[in-house]
Amino acid sequence: MTQYDLTPAISKHLDKHLIFPLLEFLGSKGLYDVADIEAAKLALIEKTNMVDYAVDIYQQLNQTDEVPESLRQRRGEVVAKLKSLEGAVKPITDFLSNEENVKLLKQDKTQNMTFLQKEFNIGPEQVDALYHFAKWNFECGNYSAAAEYLYHYRTLSTHPERTIASLWGKVAADVLLQEFGSAMDDILKLKEMLDVDTFAPVAKQLQQKAWLMHWSLFVFFNHENGLNALIDLFMQDRYLTAIQLTSQHLLRYLAVAVVVNKRRRNVLNDLKRVVSQEAYEYSDPVTEFVRCLFVDYDFDGAQEQLAKCEEVLDTDFFLVAAKDAFMEAARQFLFENYCRIHQAISIKSLSEKLNMDEEATEKWIVNLIRNARLNAKIDSKAGTVVMQTQTQSAYEQLLERSRGLGLRTLDLSNAVFGAMRA
Ligand SMILES: *[C@@H]1O[C@H](CO)[C@@H](O)[C@H](O)[C@H]1NC(C)=O
Ligand SMILES: *[C@@H]1O[C@H](CO)[C@@H](O)[C@H](O)[C@H]1NC(C)=O
Repeated sequence: MTQYDLTPAISKHLDKHLIFPLLEFLGSKGLYDVADIEAAKLALIEKTNMVDYAVDIYQQLNQTDEVPESLRQRRGEVVAKLKSLEGAVKPITDFLSNEENVKLLKQDKTQNMTFLQKEFNIGPEQVDALYHFAKWNFECGNYSAAAEYLYHYRTLSTHPERTIASLWGKVAADVLLQEFGSAMDDILKLKEMLDVDTFAPVAKQLQQKAWLMHWSLFVFFNHENGLNALIDLFMQDRYLTAIQLTSQHLLRYLAVAVVVNKRRRNVLNDLKRVVSQEAYEYSDPVTEFVRCLFVDYDFDGAQEQLAKCEEVLDTDFFLVAAKDAFMEAARQFLFENYCRIHQAISIKSLSEKLNMDEEATEKWIVNLIRNARLNAKIDSKAGTVVMQTQTQSAYEQLLERSRGLGLRTLDLSNAVFGAMRA
């Protein structure tokens, strides 16, 4: 299954701390040799301030009690950095350790530096130190301290580039703390900031969009409104272009979000287009499922890909939790499209394809018809479903109409699933 593992491609667009959970996940799935995973972790961690952790991994990996010289040296650097920061950062961390003071800052974002300078001896140098101290904490793996300091830094900072950098750091810290609500807010803020930064070189703009999309995967697959947010972001022209130019593998995540998210069928055409455009550059069982089913109407092919999807999602850090929802939604799509193409379908053969008994299959179809999802009649004598119209446009019109029903349709289709399982 390693051929579909996107960890190497994704890691290129992540902060090293964010790669860590991915490696842990891969380790738990047994796709790779344990020693290889540990070595990859060590390579990441020796560049951070988590020196003791690095020593642990090194010693386990090499079956030794020895501390390598490079790590000993690294520890010295980390401590020296703290010493050099401590003096400058102390006034501001003291200030922040009082809740009343923090309220002052929250009330007035443009809090006047003169006031801070006079009352608390806090000037630009201290604010600067706060940024570096936050970064130092982040590198030490103290993400809660980092998140807090970065948050305050941003309210005080007047340095545009570092304000953006502090927001990236805040997103990463929130993700690592699993604070997905606040990570979502920051992702959206970051997007706004990047969107207005149109003077940056094009390559840099593309790179930042790619980063944003990769970092947001952590949030989108963990937040209740994440799938909508993913579709909104990835489907924007400039972001879709960034996917096509730099990160075609993100199509897997877009495809899953669209298939699972029944409310967003209106973006299916765009997905079809981009997946087929990129098929020579990038494909995996998820994108192939989409292509086979929606572009080629190749049902056997789609079924074959769907079987592989289960394994792909199961070994994908971001998608493992969406696996069941994806499989269910994909099966329903498969069925609906199958019905659209065929004039008359035997319920028996359908039930075999869907792996349900005939009675449940018939019930399911009756419900689809009732909900105006399917324009068909059941011929009970012949044991077939007879389609009333085959034209795609009529079906699309039907979809248009049912989309207006919004939530009601959604409830009904949930009821359909209930009936299907029963
Ligand atoms: C701080 O506030 C005072 C009084 O409102 C004002 O005169 C001063 O210019 C402000 N200083 C800065 C740096 O904004
Ligand atoms: C993280 O930083 C905070 C603030 O500097 C400190 O109080 C706390 O002990 C640190 N936590 C760890 C685990 O080092």
